[in-house]
Amino acid sequence: MNDAATQAATIGVIGDVHLFWDDEDVAFFNSSGYDLLLFVGDLAAYTQVRGQRVARSIRALRTPAMCIPGNHDGLHALQLGAEIAPRAHRLRNAFCEGQARRCRSLEKALGDVELVAYTQRRVAPAGVPLNIVVCRPHSIGGRRLACLRYLDEAYGVDSMESSVARLKSLVDACDDSPILFLAHNGPSGLGDRADSIWGCDFRKKEEDWGDRDLEEAVRYASSKGRKVLATVAGHMHRKTKSGKQRPAQVEKDGVLYVNAAEVPRHRRANGVKTRHHVKLTVTAGRVTAEDLWV
Ligand SMILES: [Fe+2]
Repeated sequence: MNDAATQAATIGVIGDVHLFWDDEDVAFFNSSGYDLLLFVGDLAAYTQVRGQRVARSIRALRTPAMCIPGNHDGLHALQLGAEIAPRAHRLRNAFCEGQARRCRSLEKALGDVELVAYTQRRVAPAGVPLNIVVCRPHSIGGRRLACLRYLDEAYGVDSMESSVARLKSLVDACDDSPILFLAHNGPSGLGDRADSIWGCDFRKKEEDWGDRDLEEAVRYASSKGRKVLATVAGHMHRKTKSGKQRPAQVEKDGVLYVNAAEVPRHRRANGVKTRHHVKLTVTAGRVTAEDLWV
């Protein structure tokens, strides 16, 4: 017996893969009983060829799944370098050349696993109604939009403000069911320390490294009376450069924020290999998140 009040869906969230994925992961998720799988991006790590290999393995998943591209997906190493290193910023736009093609290749490699960005999906895993709002692809965090020329060409987004407007329009397209945001990087507004859930740990100056467009979209949804259940993302690896541990989840104003980026997600201890993901349990009005090493 499963009425609306007691129905529960389980959603597996896979943090930044960075090549740590193999056929045993496929076998696990194909027998785990999840209703939906969400990848927060960064399947690759500097080379697209090896990222494609991961994608071709992921396509064997039989559970419905979607993936938002991270800053490592569809970018070649020089392009990523130009986005990261201030001295090479002048080359950023030129290196966007071919990104659409690289993203199409990744999409093709993923098969039925959807590569999604700036979109909204009405789903009902295990009968639980849910809107998934998929945010800005290839986010690198901070105030600047990565891959700006590509974002403009592919999505008509040419600034942080137009990204905010795009995300708000996706919220407007949702029905009354609760909303879950899927992003590569999490929102700003959750802390400005290096070990905050999306804080900057790679510069001397500690600061909030979250995405402002996502923060504004969550606030907008709430202001419109929408129930925002959760935001799931990654990008800022949980273990910081100085060896501290970020929180895996934070709750603020009734919204659960999950940073799934446990990197590497394959670990070996006492000769036993374990694999990380986050299990979301979703009912009509509530969500919980649990870290699992299997
Ligand atoms: Fe990333």
